[in-house]
Amino acid sequence: MKRAARTAYVCQQCGHAAPRWLGQCPACESWGTLVEEAMPDARAAAAAPAPAQAPQALSAVTASETMRRSTGVGELDRVLGGGLVQGSIVLLGGDPGIGKSTLALQACGALAGQGVPVLYVAGEESPEQVRLRADRLGLGESGILIVPETTAETVIEHIDRVRPAAVVVDSIQTLRTMTLASAPGSVGQVRESAALLVSRCKATSTACFLIGHVTKEGSLAGPRVLEHLVDTVLYFEGDGAHALRVLRAVKNRFGSTNEVGVFEMGERGLAEVANPSAAFLAERPADAPGSAVLATLEGSRPVLVEIQALVSRSALAMPRRTPIGLDLGRTALLLAILEKRCGLRLHDQDVFLNVAGGLRIDEPASDLAVIAAVASSARGKALPGDVVLWGEVGLTGEVRSVARADIRMREAARQGFKRCVLPAGNARGLDADPRTTIRGVGNVAELFEVLELA
Ligand code: TYD
Ligand code: MG
Repeated sequence: MKRAARTAYVCQQCGHAAPRWLGQCPACESWGTLVEEAMPDARAAAAAPAPAQAPQALSAVTASETMRRSTGVGELDRVLGGGLVQGSIVLLGGDPGIGKSTLALQACGALAGQGVPVLYVAGEESPEQVRLRADRLGLGESGILIVPETTAETVIEHIDRVRPAAVVVDSIQTLRTMTLASAPGSVGQVRESAALLVSRCKATSTACFLIGHVTKEGSLAGPRVLEHLVDTVLYFEGDGAHALRVLRAVKNRFGSTNEVGVFEMGERGLAEVANPSAAFLAERPADAPGSAVLATLEGSRPVLVEIQALVSRSALAMPRRTPIGLDLGRTALLLAILEKRCGLRLHDQDVFLNVAGGLRIDEPASDLAVIAAVASSARGKALPGDVVLWGEVGLTGEVRSVARADIRMREAARQGFKRCVLPAGNARGLDADPRTTIRGVGNVAELFEVLELA
């Protein structure tokens, strides 16, 4: 009988190995860092050393053009870097309910439709449930192979038997390997099961989607520990209350991490959004104070989004600052600049900010639009409806240039906006698009003049 592999609990901080689980590492005294790991059998490892490969000249290495295949979902292909690479491992993360299973099933359906053998490993849902979803997506008859399975070793047997070109594991948290005793979903199980699958998929050139529940911030136990193991990490974002979803690559060995895909969740699954700006601005109120349009970059793609601000008198000793979809620290800084440089009284006001459509914005180029939205709400004066803004604001209130002013301007023009307000440094040397005018501002006081908020 095969002896169960020896396991140990290894501290993730210092590497100390203990024979059983402990709350605190006896070596480095960190708490909650011990994770079960399979130990290599010492005798077996000594008996069969891996054959060493002699170093060779890099120029002698033949690299074949990576084999890519369209998944049939254009926005997914775009984020993957132009299609799914044979034998690549893709981690698809996101909040529960965001649409990961739906996206994976749509990709499977399209691949199966091209005659590509695909295997869907359902760990969370029964095949019946998946069939119902497939019917809803119009993929019920598409030739996808499905198996309900949660043991990594058995999944590998299925891969060996079926030889699919692509396999989806939904989800990695439900998978377990027989070598470890810990519960599915624990760091040890997630990591070991994934490692087993990854090595088999690499050996058989099987593309693999690992689905994992995780938020971008969620650095705790879970798929985050897999990021170094896989080739591509995609995050599916959006807020559950909205239909718009953004698929973003945070790591990609086979393409740039600069691409995003935009989808809309509808009655019949995820539809690709060809014109994200129009979608994000769809419900923008006319003539409402506190609304500003920002030209942001999502990867290499310019997108117009609405920044909303609400400034109202606070009943609290510590007024609220609540930015949704924007950075809290950065927001506090911009409010301080408004207070100090523009004489706007905000210290006894609650300030709420929101990026309409549920998008998250990380680039400082959003500063100008945030400042304009806050000032507009504080003054109770709507901004002109045909203005798009972008630009970074420094601590002295100076407006700094940002990257790719040209494509931001063209997107604004394409969406019918007549005026762009941008950093003076960007305005110099920018060939204005005939459909729109550009106005450079050097500091926030100038911004107030241009928008008539002074
Ligand atoms: P799902 O793909 O199950 O999310 P995840 O795998 O990330 O947990 O999608 C869940 C949500 O999507 C669910 O609330 C229902 C909704 N949905 C639609 O609105 N339309 C559809 O066609 C489908 C399949 C799902
Ligand atoms: Mg799911």
